Amino acid sequence: MRIFAERLSARHPAAKADAPPALAEASFTIEPGEQVAIIGASGAGKTTLLHALACALPPAAGTVTLDGVAPWQLPRAELQRLRGQLFLAPQVPPLPPRQRVVTAVLAGRLPALGFWKSVASLFYPYDIPAAHHALTAFDLAEKIFERVDRLSGGERQRVGLARALLAPASLWLVDEPLSALDPRRAELAITTLTGQARERGVTLVTTLHQVDVALTRYQRIIGLANGKLTFDLPAKDVTREMLERLYAEHPEELGGPAPELIDPVPAKQPAVMHCR
Ligand SMILES: Nc1ncnc2c1ncn2[C@@H]1O[C@H](COP(=O)(O)OP(=O)(O)OP(=O)(O)O)[C@@H](O)[C@H]1O
Ligand SMILES: [Mg+2]
Repeated sequence: MRIFAERLSARHPAAKADAPPALAEASFTIEPGEQVAIIGASGAGKTTLLHALACALPPAAGTVTLDGVAPWQLPRAELQRLRGQLFLAPQVPPLPPRQRVVTAVLAGRLPALGFWKSVASLFYPYDIPAAHHALTAFDLAEKIFERVDRLSGGERQRVGLARALLAPASLWLVDEPLSALDPRRAELAITTLTGQARERGVTLVTTLHQVDVALTRYQRIIGLANGKLTFDLPAKDVTREMLERLYAEHPEELGGPAPELIDPVPAKQPAVMHCR
């Protein structure tokens, strides 16, 4: 899916109608199949931007079009149909507590099902192998019949991500997918998301706090600060100075230098072994 935004402004999803926009006058184009990471300090407007692209928020000003279509000019039924082609993964997925994992994952496919099949799927998981396959990709297959409210935060986050693999979507909008994951699961999750999006030709827009992951796993980086787009560049052209400016008010969120800027780590001395 192709995204075109011109001077797009939007208010935070929870903000009052008269609040100042959390995203101001952002202009960019994202081509079908592109993979873009959005970085910036907490409060920069990343989630607001993602929700605006997901047609969950009408623009406060400016325009956004998806494959040339202006969503907010569509009749309600067509807007719903368009939303069915988008997959938004919130940082904390809203999962009904008593639902089984298998049902929660298969819910990703609901936009592609007719009404009766959707209702039936709430009672009977109609494609257990597909759910198992999606969960395996996020190392969670063993929890397939567990209740969602018995999962850890990181497991719930991975259920939310596994849904993407079932969704009939051509645009994935993923909000901080790694925030509750340990390093091994984070590596697996980002490899699965970027690999699967590439294989399917899906456009992938991901917000990330992990600048090193953004720079090494995405071709293009959009930097946001105080609701403003401060740069939009190929990852290889993002410099340490740009990152320091982007996080100037919150340097603690930037962490260490980006991997390709780090001096090679000296080889460790061999560990001394004591044999008894
Ligand atoms: N509940 C709210 N009501 C009104 N305004 C809000 C609310 N929550 C956030 N905002 C405003 O929206 C701005 C952008 O918030 P947003 O959640 O989009 O940022 P973010 O970059 O996703 O931050 P984080 O990295 O912490 O998730 C905030 O700086 C704040 O000014
Ligand atoms: Mg956010």
